[in-house]
Order: sequence, then C-alpha cells, then structure tokens
Amino acid sequence: MKRKLRVAQIGCGFMGRAHANAYHQVTGAFDPPIEPSLEVICATDAARAQAFARRWGFASHSTSWREVVARDDIDLVDICVPNNLHAEIALAAAESGKAILCEKPLAMNVAQGREMVAAVEKAGVASLVSFNYRRVPAVTLAKQLIDEGRLGRVFHYRAQFLQDWTISPDLPQGGSAAWRLDASVAGSGVTGDLLAHCIDTALWQNGPITRVNAMTETFIKQRMHAVTGCEEPVRIDDACVFFCRFENGSLGNFESTRYARGHKALFTFEINGEHASIRWDLHDLHRLEWSDHGDEGAVRGWRSIHVTDGSGDHPYMDHWWVPGLAVGYGATFVHQLSDFLSAIHEGRSCSPTFREALETQKVCEAVLQSADAGQWVDIDTA
Ligand SMILES: NC(=O)c1ccc[n+]([C@@H]2O[C@H](COP(=O)([O-])OP(=O)(O)OC[C@H]3O[C@@H](n4cnc5c(N)ncnc54)[C@H](O)[C@@H]3O)[C@@H](O)[C@H]2O)c1
Repeated sequence: MKRKLRVAQIGCGFMGRAHANAYHQVTGAFDPPIEPSLEVICATDAARAQAFARRWGFASHSTSWREVVARDDIDLVDICVPNNLHAEIALAAAESGKAILCEKPLAMNVAQGREMVAAVEKAGVASLVSFNYRRVPAVTLAKQLIDEGRLGRVFHYRAQFLQDWTISPDLPQGGSAAWRLDASVAGSGVTGDLLAHCIDTALWQNGPITRVNAMTETFIKQRMHAVTGCEEPVRIDDACVFFCRFENGSLGNFESTRYARGHKALFTFEINGEHASIRWDLHDLHRLEWSDHGDEGAVRGWRSIHVTDGSGDHPYMDHWWVPGLAVGYGATFVHQLSDFLSAIHEGRSCSPTFREALETQKVCEAVLQSADAGQWVDIDTA
C-alpha cells in the first residue's frame, strides 16, 4: 500500500478548484509514489466549504485555518487564499512541520518572502510555489531546448500578459470578489498577479535579471470599496511595462495590463537566440513555435510544433492520451502536483521552491520601486 499524504487545502475559490481537480487526477494519470488523501477544506464561508467538501471529496470542512494547520493528522498544507494570507499560513505550517504548496505570488513583498524562506528552510519542510505555467508541456519543452543549447547566445526575451476585465469604472475594489484590486490584500496589481508568472518563467528559462526600468499606470484612480461602501483611492498598478537586463547579456521587455480590450489571458513569450527563436502563446498552449536558422534556406521559417506526443518526445504527455490529443490548463496543476509528490517522497522541495520564488518577488518589488522612482533599479541576485 502506498503512503498517504494527508492534505489540508485552504481556499475553495478559483485556485481551490484547480488544486482539488489535480488531487483527483494525479493518482490515475501519474501513479505517484505517495497518494493524496483529502482530509479538510477550509474557507471563510462554512456553507461554501461544506458544499465544496461534498463535491470534491474532502473528509471535513472548517472555517479556521489556524485549527487546520495545527492538526497533527495533516502532512501537507495547500495555500489557495488571497496574497495577504500566504505568509501567516506558511509560517504556521512550517512551524508545525508540514510540507507546503503555496499559490503565487510567494508573498506581499520581499521582506515577507525572506521570512517564509527562512521558516521552511529552518523547519526542513518541502515547499513548492504554484507557478504552474512552467508545466505546460510546450513551455517545459521550450526550457529543454534552451538547456540543450539550441538557441546559442540569447539576445532578446520578451513577454506579455494581457487581460481586459477591469476596464469598467463601476467594478468595485475589495471584498471576496474583487480582492485583486485592493492593494492591502493583493500587494500589487498586474505586477504581482500576472507579471510574476512571466518573470518566473523568464528566470527559469533565461537566468537572473540584474536591472529593471519600469513604468506603471492606474487608469481608474477611485473605486467603491466593497467592504467600506466608500469611494477609495485605487493603489494597485492597472498596467506595467518594464525593460531589463539579464545576467547572460540579453535584453528583456515585459508588459502586462488588465486594460487590453479583447484579451482575456494572453500570456506570450518570445526568445531570440543566435541560432534559433522560440515563441509560445497561452491561448494556443499546446503549440510551441520554433524557427531554426540551421534549416535549409528554401524551407527556413517558423514551425508550429504540436506538443502532444507522449512516445518520448514531449514532456508529461506520456501520461495522457495518444499523440495529437491535447491537454489544457488544468493539467499544469496535475503536473506540478505529480512532481511535488515525488519530491516529498524523496524528502526534498520541488522547483520553484520558496527560495526560487523569492527571486521573482525581488524582481516584482524592483519593478514597482523603479516605476515609483522613475529610474533604473538594481536587483540583489545574491
Ligand atoms: N497559479 C495561477 O495561475 C493562479 C491563478 C489564480 C490565482 N492564483 C493565486 O491563488 C490565490 C487565490 O486566488 P483565487 O483566484 O483562487 O481567489 P478566490 O477569491 O477565487 O478564492 C479565495 C479563497 O480563499 C478563501 N479565504 C479567504 N480568506 C480566508 C481565510 N481567512 N481563511 C480561510 N479561507 C480564506 C476564500 O473563502 C476563497 O475560498 C492567490 O494568491 C492568487 O494570486 C494563482
């Protein structure tokens, strides 16, 4: 019989569903060395937590994360709550010796992130931060091609994450539905919410960022606050554009906004190297575009690789269907969970660890500082 990993999941919103779905799928699809056992779901609203427990098969429900984290029949605490709660829950979970899966961004700021890194390392517990886009098979394949040296020297890295859901001035800030617009809960706007994904992927693929120069804008300056009922200043960044230098000498160019009418979640990246270029687009997530200068001139151009071949060529796909059939967004959480379960079984953390996610937090903070100061900011990569 396989060892059970007893899970307490805190949060049953959007990410709560994505994580619960992954717990259900991982055992059948990946046959991990240890198996998740869904012990308790925790949320602010008891009725919602109870309905979620029934629907997704959690043995119990709770409205107190402190009680849940203190239980001695729990092995893993899975943090799927708004950003202002990540640190407090993670510190308590580390203190009580639990493995931790934490949604991104790691923390509200670098100081908090450092405390979290120190806590998990002191306690010796396994950690993973849910930068799930790394585990889109096409994105993982891009990383493999880069690591094989196929691009040669990298000149340019550019990434975008574009949405359009906050354009209406009637949208309130704060409360359970719109916490992303409330800086006291979210920490920042698009920088921590969307660019953090682009930055995590970029650091992983292209190495450390050493300097940034950024510009942010808050297009709608006042919104009604759902909790106070009053018009209050909006303190998040609605849009952010930054350029940067990577340690490997390449130039970076990043943009994110929630004001790009027509775009729902357009995460894209393009990397231009000496020998080849790669580009990827979340709206067509199973395709990787690849242009190789080594191809014969007459047929040289962009290829569109359908990353669905599980016969050995494409990461994770041997656990799914037959070649040509795609998996989607939900599978990225299954992949990260499968990797994390193997890591826990072997007594180690899983990438991106809290320490690695702190590097993304440093870039986010430097971007916001640069936008405030209107000048370049260096990043301490030590
Ligand atoms: N990896 C990704 O692509 C991705 C996507 C979306 C959100 N996220 C991250 O996931 C986290 C949650 O976002 P979401 O979209 O699921 O939010 P959500 O608003 O949909 O859900 C939040 C959940 O947290 C619960 N909660 C809030 N305060 C609580 C408390 N004090 N005690 C117990 N439960 C509490 C709520 O009851 C709710 O179930 C955020 O950190 C966000 O940045 C990551």
